Amino acid sequence: MGFTMAIDGPAGAGKSTIAKLVGEKLGLIYIDTGAMYRAVACYFVENNINPDDGEEVKKACDSIVITIDYYDGVQQVILNDRNVTPFLRGEETGKMASRVAKLGAVRSKLVSLQRDMADNGRIIMDGRDIGTCVFPGADIKIYLTASSAVRAKRRYDELVSKGVACNIDEIEKDIINRDYEDMHREISPLKKADDAICIDTSGMGISEVVDKLIEIYEEKNS
Ligand code: DC
Repeated sequence: MGFTMAIDGPAGAGKSTIAKLVGEKLGLIYIDTGAMYRAVACYFVENNINPDDGEEVKKACDSIVITIDYYDGVQQVILNDRNVTPFLRGEETGKMASRVAKLGAVRSKLVSLQRDMADNGRIIMDGRDIGTCVFPGADIKIYLTASSAVRAKRRYDELVSKGVACNIDEIEKDIINRDYEDMHREISPLKKADDAICIDTSGMGISEVVDKLIEIYEEKNS
C-alpha cells in the first residue's frame, strides 16, 4: 500500500539530509523536489531563457523532460536525456531555481510529475509545498525549520569544510532573502500545513531529528 511522508521547510533546515536518512531507515524512496526545480533552472540558464517572458517560458516547459533515476540509492536528475545532477547545487542555479519556482507553468509541470512518481509507492518527499499542495492527504506531514542564524552557521561550516571562502553574515542575509521569496510568492508559497508537525531543529543534532521522525512514523503505524 502507498505511504507518503511530506517534509517541508525553509532552505537549510536540514530537510534533505534528514529525509534521506529517514528514508533509508524506513525503506521509503526519497524524492528531493528542490533538485527538480534546480534542473529546470539549469535548462533556463543553459538556454538563456528569460523567466519574465511568458512565451519563452511556455516553450521551455514544453521542451523540458525531467526523469528521476537512482544510482546506488542516490537520486539522479535526468534533463532531456542528460544527467545534470552534478550541476544542480551551484549558486547561479540556486538563484535561478528560486525564480523559476514562482512560475505557474513550471510548478504545474513538476507537481504532476511528483504525483506520478509517488504512484502508490512508499515515499518520503521534501520541498516547500509537499504537504500543502502536492500531497495534501499525505500520511505524515513534517515542517522542519531552524533559526536563520543556525541555518547560516550550518551552511558556513559546510562551505569552510570544502575550502570555500565565505562570510557568515552574507550567508544569513541570503537565507533571509530566500525565505522571503519562497514565503511570499503567489503560487504555492512555503507555509506550514495546518496538520503538519513542526520541528525546530535549531538545538538538535541530525540523529536526534531522525529519531524524532521515526518515533512519529512508529506512532502513526502502531
Ligand atoms: O530545496 P532547494 O534549495 O534545492 O530548492 C531550490 C528552489 O526551489 C528554492 O528556491 C525553493 C524551490 N522549491 C519549491 O518552490 N518547491 C519545492 N517543492 C521545492 C523547491
